[in-house]
Amino acid sequence: MIHSLRGFRDILPPDSERFTAIEAAAREVFSLYGYHEIRIPTLEARELFVKSTGDTTDIVQKEMYAFTDQGGREIAARPEGTPGVVRAYIENNLAQSGGNGKFFYIGSMFRAERPQAGRYREFEQIGAECIGAHSPFADAESISLLMEILSKAGVSGCLAELNSLGCAECRAAYRAELLAYLKANTAALCPACQARLERNPLRALDCKLDGPRLALAAPCVKLCPNCLDHFSRVQELLSSSNAQFRINKSLVRGLDYYTRTVFEVKTGALGSQDAIAGGGRYDDLVKSMSGPDAPAVGWALGVDRLALLTKDAAATPAATQVFVICAQPAGVEASAKAFALLGELRAAGIRTDFSDFGLSLKSQLRSADKSGASLALILGEEEVKNSVYTLKFLKEKKDQRTVPAAGITPVIRAALSQ
Ligand code: HAM
Repeated sequence: MIHSLRGFRDILPPDSERFTAIEAAAREVFSLYGYHEIRIPTLEARELFVKSTGDTTDIVQKEMYAFTDQGGREIAARPEGTPGVVRAYIENNLAQSGGNGKFFYIGSMFRAERPQAGRYREFEQIGAECIGAHSPFADAESISLLMEILSKAGVSGCLAELNSLGCAECRAAYRAELLAYLKANTAALCPACQARLERNPLRALDCKLDGPRLALAAPCVKLCPNCLDHFSRVQELLSSSNAQFRINKSLVRGLDYYTRTVFEVKTGALGSQDAIAGGGRYDDLVKSMSGPDAPAVGWALGVDRLALLTKDAAATPAATQVFVICAQPAGVEASAKAFALLGELRAAGIRTDFSDFGLSLKSQLRSADKSGASLALILGEEEVKNSVYTLKFLKEKKDQRTVPAAGITPVIRAALSQ
């Protein structure tokens, strides 16, 4: 047989129900915050990610699913959503269209990482991008939005780690200081960090090998007065909105476009794949992609990881309520009536199911029990003749009675609420 690819998985019920519940919780909170859904393509020009995510990042250098298509074009399966949203914003002239620039997306991302629990090659992100806002209110709102979605999805008590990487000027000064430090310690760096040292010294800080050690020893960013003021304001606003956070001076994030505020939400419950969500400000990205001068802030959360965290808590799937059974020997008329009954109950909003009207009564009752339904409606030739159904309680009482076929919906509603 043909197996699924390594790192690509089927999400089966009830896990799939958990994904749906997380998405529904997120949609509800997004609408409270004035965010609107954007659907962007799965495949984009490879160059989009090289220019935005960054050509020295692990994501672009090692993890991208990239290929040349039939027309000789260099294509990549999106490893993250931000570059596509920014491209769509510029290409569709959204800055001019009067919208508020607040977008959310839900979809698969692709990274050829080494698979393990909580780390997959196809994974789902829920992401939020607020484009066109420079004030610290936007940062604080974006982080509060993330925390509220996590809490609504059933993960309470999350703590956001926060840092500021400063603006282009702070970064230039920092780059020089960090480069000097790393050059003095080159021998201790992994080959990849040595190779990209001159082009992007910052990447050493989020390298899986060198990062943890450098976090303790390497110099930190020194913020200019404006960036310092912005960062202090973000912290004040978060404190007043009761979002739980702490400062982590060595948080740099693994993508190139960040400026000023960066943040990550981690959990101790998922082993080494501890990041549930991450994001930050990217004030220069839209402009650098040939768009307007539009500062922005956003984040993405990993739905697969959130689903692992909420495994025992939220989202038990909505079970079938009524099981329709057409008992043998049932004629064509009885099974046609039973089929119509399914439609009638479903139209009334009652979760209704059946197995196979041709099977024995015993077998259909077994399926009814397995479905979790609390009621069975049984229809045979006798019932058709007398225009009735047999209503059987499948849970505690297990008794049954005859009910008129006409006006069945209120009878079922009443029986369900007993
Ligand atoms: P990221 O930190 O690369 O940021 O990914 C965000 C989240 O996606 C992670 O915290 C994690 O939960 C989840 N994730 C990443 N890789 C995997 C994987 N292989 N398997 C399962 N889950 C994974 C971004 O993607 C940025 N675009 C966030 C952003 C939006 N920044 C500004 N706007």
